Amino acid sequence: MNPIITQEAGDILESERFLQCWETCHHKGTNVARHSLEVAEYALYLYEKRHRPDTDVRDVVRACLLHDIGMTDRKVHDSISFIKAYAHPRRSAQIAREEFGANQIQLDAILHHMWPVCFVPPSYEAGWFVLRSDKHCANRDVADVLKNSFRPGSRKRFTKFDS
Ligand SMILES: [Fe+2]
Ligand SMILES: [Fe+2]
Repeated sequence: MNPIITQEAGDILESERFLQCWETCHHKGTNVARHSLEVAEYALYLYEKRHRPDTDVRDVVRACLLHDIGMTDRKVHDSISFIKAYAHPRRSAQIAREEFGANQIQLDAILHHMWPVCFVPPSYEAGWFVLRSDKHCANRDVADVLKNSFRPGSRKRFTKFDS
């Protein structure tokens, strides 16, 4: 793990709320905690390549770890996933503000990370790092599931969360 993640968001990683995310299924075959850490890692890669001087790496890392923290388990509630795409950023932002003291930039990134599914894009560069990294990681998760589904004997794994 990139040491910047533990340096800037160690309190989140150790929190009861985030630890529960290891049990919350997300993008078939992964969970919210692992996905959020992957989003943070890739966002840091993008940030280190190029960023504006006034964009704080702390905002990027913390928003990445918190962007899906309000997500409920897809294994349990898959039938309402379209509604959830709209609802979970608001719930994540509420948790981020109340439990982790998220600032305006972090809240903006969390609230608008689903753009263009939600209609308003992020207002700060930090939010664009979160958004781009989230899309990249989500696409990779889906590609992995599809790739595995075509392997012999993998049909059962592909449908594991559908029953
Ligand atoms: Fe999300
Ligand atoms: Fe996400």
